[in-house]
Amino acid sequence: MTQLKWYPALAVISASLVLLGCQQQSGEGQQNTEQQANASRPAPAPEQQDLTPAEAPSGGSAEKYFQPPREIPNDEFGKVVRQGELIFTNTPTYAKGYSGNALSCVNCHIDKGRLANSAPLWAAYVAYPAYRSKNKHVNTIQERMQGCFRFSMNGTPPAADSPEMTALVTYAYWMAQGAPTGEKKMAGRGYPVLKKPASVNRERGAKIFASSCAVCHGADGQGQSVNGTTVFPPLWGPQSFNWGAGMHRVNTAAGFIKANMPLGQGNTLSDQDAWDVAAYVMDQPRPQDPRFKGDTAATDKEYHDHFCYYGEAGALPRQAKK
Ligand code: HEC
Ligand code: HEC
Repeated sequence: MTQLKWYPALAVISASLVLLGCQQQSGEGQQNTEQQANASRPAPAPEQQDLTPAEAPSGGSAEKYFQPPREIPNDEFGKVVRQGELIFTNTPTYAKGYSGNALSCVNCHIDKGRLANSAPLWAAYVAYPAYRSKNKHVNTIQERMQGCFRFSMNGTPPAADSPEMTALVTYAYWMAQGAPTGEKKMAGRGYPVLKKPASVNRERGAKIFASSCAVCHGADGQGQSVNGTTVFPPLWGPQSFNWGAGMHRVNTAAGFIKANMPLGQGNTLSDQDAWDVAAYVMDQPRPQDPRFKGDTAATDKEYHDHFCYYGEAGALPRQAKK
């Protein structure tokens, strides 16, 4: 118990680190970059001013992202936006019954879903409806969010017309105001794609985990909570995302980790370190894929044709599929 005492302090420290990180990415530093960029090329058309050229490298300083609004209106519409923000930032409390673990949406969509390269909601909202190969049909934004409930939250999705889903979609719609409807490639969408190194080494990853991650997520990866509220989210185990979630793919996790972890110090790990530590973390036990067909090999064949370590702990040879 005594050990727990310093975690709230650490949470405050890490929260301010996040703020610092955000300011670096979207605050004054960015304005300088903006001025430099604008000095060397003609002024963009007004509707393009907030967009980075799609080819801009992610994580560098010369980037420019869409800036979502800050002020939520004080009216009936705004009330629902606020409800969506509450669900997004504290899912177990505000979407009770739908969420099946200790995670909240914000744990993987950082800064309330606003941060570029952390699968921000403003870039997602304008990209749906879209065909997804994961389920082989056109998905609405509601269905996309339901997917995160089923897999990332290891839960039962709220219905498309439920108050919870309406609040989440309203929140995303509000955040995306002014973004171009139908644009599938807004700069900062999703997580950055990291080129796969020649070899990925989980043993090296374990060492990186111990030195750079365990302080917050715990040596056992189970995270930390204070009075039942998650302060540092679990990375594996019964309270984390399940084997169907996008984050269990080593490439997706490597991109997320590179851009966002250690929290407040995004883009400090080398690509190799990000891949190695992602491989270590994604090679740990977690809840079964809800699409489980009663047979690990069959489920693996049908749904896991990507770089991952799917299999209940010990059930599959513990080696990666490429
Ligand atoms: C364990 C991490 C995790 C949690 C928790 C999580 N998500 Fe996601 N989410 C992801 C990943 C991974 C993707 C896929 C991003 C990609 O493919 O680039 C994603 C994608 C999305 C997208 C589509 C993004 C896009 O640009 O297409 C939306 C919308 C979304 N999540 C909403 C939510 C909501 C709402 C919640 C909470 C109910 C939530 N997520 C919880 C990891 C998570
Ligand atoms: C300073 C504390 C801190 C450190 C150090 C840290 N994290 Fe995190 N991590 C967090 C917090 C807090 C979140 C949730 C972000 C939020 O809600 O804003 C998070 C979220 C995550 C997530 C997505 C959520 C989940 O539960 O799966 C992953 C994956 C992750 N971290 C991996 C890592 C790895 C790998 C390292 C080491 C390279 C690391 N983290 C270092 C605090 C930290």
